[in-house]
Amino acid sequence: MVTKIFTDNAALSDYLAEQMIELIVSKPNALICFASGNSPRNTAACFVQKVKERKVDLSAFHFIGLDEWVGVPASMHGSCHNDFKNWLFEPLGIQDTQYHLFNGTSSNLEEECNKMDAYIEAQGGIDLMVVGIGMNGHIGFNEPGSNFDAKSHVVPLDEITASVGQKYFQQAMTLESGITLGFHHLLATKKVYLIANGKAKAEVIQKAVEGEVTTAFPASVMQLHNNGSILIDDEAASMLKR
Ligand code: F6R
Repeated sequence: MVTKIFTDNAALSDYLAEQMIELIVSKPNALICFASGNSPRNTAACFVQKVKERKVDLSAFHFIGLDEWVGVPASMHGSCHNDFKNWLFEPLGIQDTQYHLFNGTSSNLEEECNKMDAYIEAQGGIDLMVVGIGMNGHIGFNEPGSNFDAKSHVVPLDEITASVGQKYFQQAMTLESGITLGFHHLLATKKVYLIANGKAKAEVIQKAVEGEVTTAFPASVMQLHNNGSILIDDEAASMLKR
């Protein structure tokens, strides 16, 4: 695992968007997976700008979302689906045949999980994944205690996730569970980038990079990835010791 430190989020986003473009140019039918939330927002914006400037052909490219809040409709402000629509699908004209997202309002969540696992397999696996890190060390909705070999699954949300998650919504929400890709998928992905910025993430980044590898701190799974990178700004790097 490599850790790269950038002066700020703009530099980090520019670097990561460039990696995404390089992948798509060399493999036009690449499958990219993105987390929603605040961390990847600027990377998505940089990616959109670069695709437009360089007229990158996205017609064969495919996209999946890392996770979704259970019970939150796709169209609602704050859903992961809505973020992806605003960040990528609309600005880039990505067709609905080119992406697959969890439906958090499905009456059969187990089937949602099976459909996602089958989609990934049918695409030949995930080429590049961009994830954030939560204040309890989660990745996606893989909360503390999540197995490192899980595929897509539904997870009861930790108290921290349910309360921090309020920031994405315009009204108070009851957030009880999430549907997410599991760490089997993360570990099988060809290239994984975990990104974080700001002082608030310094402690969780220190644990993810330098702490013990344990399911009690999910982001420590990155240490097991043979092609994983942690991209952080100076502030998020401020508690690293090594
Ligand atoms: C969201 C997701 C979450 C976030 C994490 C960090 O789709 O998968 O795991 O990546 O909670 O959130 P931000 O980036 O908003 O600090």
